[in-house]
Amino acid sequence: MSQTENTPSAPAYFSVSDLHAYYGESYIVQGVSFDVKEGEILALLGRNGAGKTSTLRAIARLDDPQMTHGEVWLDHQPLHEMRAYQAAQAGCSLVPEDRRIIAGLTVEENLQLAQIVEPVGWPLKRLYELFPRLKERRKQEGVTLSGGEQQMLAIARALARDIKVLLLDEPYEGLAPVIVDEIEKTLNLIKEQGITTVIVEQNALRALALADRAVILDTGTVVFDGLASEVLENDELRAEYLAI
Ligand SMILES: Nc1ncnc2c1ncn2[C@@H]1O[C@H](COP(=O)(O)OP(=O)(O)OP(=O)(O)O)[C@@H](O)[C@H]1O
Ligand SMILES: [Mg+2]
Repeated sequence: MSQTENTPSAPAYFSVSDLHAYYGESYIVQGVSFDVKEGEILALLGRNGAGKTSTLRAIARLDDPQMTHGEVWLDHQPLHEMRAYQAAQAGCSLVPEDRRIIAGLTVEENLQLAQIVEPVGWPLKRLYELFPRLKERRKQEGVTLSGGEQQMLAIARALARDIKVLLLDEPYEGLAPVIVDEIEKTLNLIKEQGITTVIVEQNALRALALADRAVILDTGTVVFDGLASEVLENDELRAEYLAI
């Protein structure tokens, strides 16, 4: 009988364990743990200031906030021992809230730039199949795209690298519902390709509709970890921690 799946030495595909992180003296991420299965979508939710962005940044190994304790494993690789660029090479891709489209470059050049170093992910042809709007606008300067198109470009640019987990910070922010529909459809297609996603969203209902599971943060700690459907059905939980 094999015990390997349950032994402590075999972490989940993507595993965050007792993560603590500080901005200078400010103690913000206060022992966050959660596991994500390969190909799953996890919604990471919580009120303004709960520590969602900080948690994503600590996972991606950015300098701020500084991670002082904890482990992050991605497909058997210890991200907690890595710098940000190494975590990115290991397949951890953070799409920040401001999207960081590079000015002066066309849509296509933004995608090509992502592919100048190994490991390269999806070829342009496949990215354009997933995002036909980006194909139409491939010669346009990236920063002149609409908000929704810029979000698509930011996601496409992540997939242009060979990634294992996509960390999305507020991908729906400022977008009309019909554009959110479009991005949601794309995120489902990305899931079908086996990519694991963590989505942080203020629009909790939309994120819960997409996600398999949900983790709710409050003042830098986990207050709920379970099925997305459980959050949708639990009025008290939603009122207390999500104000919806
Ligand atoms: N650079 C920083 N320096 C000091 N404190 C910070 C910094 N960035 C964020 N914080 C603080 O950390 C806490 C968590 O912020 P964070 O941005 O992670 O929250 P969030 O859950 O993403 O909120 P929102 O929903 O508003 O995006 C907040 O109290 C915030 O003021
Ligand atoms: Mg945030």
